[in-house]
Amino acid sequence: MKWLLTVLKQSYKPAVYISRVSSGRADVVVGSNPELVRAVGSQVEVRTGFISEEEEAALLRELEPSLKRKRYEFDHWDDAIHGYRETERVQWGAACEEILSRVRSVAFADGSSLLGPVHVLDLDKAGYIKPHVDSVKFCGSTIAGLSLLSDSIMRLVRVDAPSEWLDLLLPRRSLYILRDKARYDFTHEILKDEESVFNGQRVNRERRISVICRNLPG
Ligand code: OGA
Ligand code: MN
Repeated sequence: MKWLLTVLKQSYKPAVYISRVSSGRADVVVGSNPELVRAVGSQVEVRTGFISEEEEAALLRELEPSLKRKRYEFDHWDDAIHGYRETERVQWGAACEEILSRVRSVAFADGSSLLGPVHVLDLDKAGYIKPHVDSVKFCGSTIAGLSLLSDSIMRLVRVDAPSEWLDLLLPRRSLYILRDKARYDFTHEILKDEESVFNGQRVNRERRISVICRNLPG
């Protein structure tokens, strides 16, 4: 699904972390300044414990066979994603379909048109996703992703002001949703294990599988 991504060749290493104090969400969202966290924070959701261990296992049972037939790709220096294999799926078993319909019902408005295939991205422990904005031609205003097997950190960096950023802690079995400005005006990336520090706290990045639902451009 390379066509989904537009890589932006920028990298910004934040030095200071300021968390949103009053929201009760500082445990999963921090940013370069409180106003930004307040303003863009409404277009970012992280729902911890969105799926149970049993549901995670059901997704893995369904996904592992097709993923295991592929090799992780490391070699393309210009790729947005490093150390990954991926698949996409239209038809799911009943247990997984139930999970996905829950994702759709919290992330997308009734009646919105979704990208048919669900995107499944398997990052090796050494894999990571560089800063990019998903294709505006092929994807709509909302991106919703389940994280399996590992905690990880998603970093958002404002395209026209790279000193403005948000870090999202994506715990294993959580759902994240990026909407509108968070999706269009910021790059997103998944940090590599060595750089995986959230709000001063080291977060181990293991192999991680994401299951991503998108809508179509309006
Ligand atoms: C992507 C992407 C994030 C994730 O594939 O465009 O940003 O959670 N993935 O894997
Ligand atoms: Mn993306």
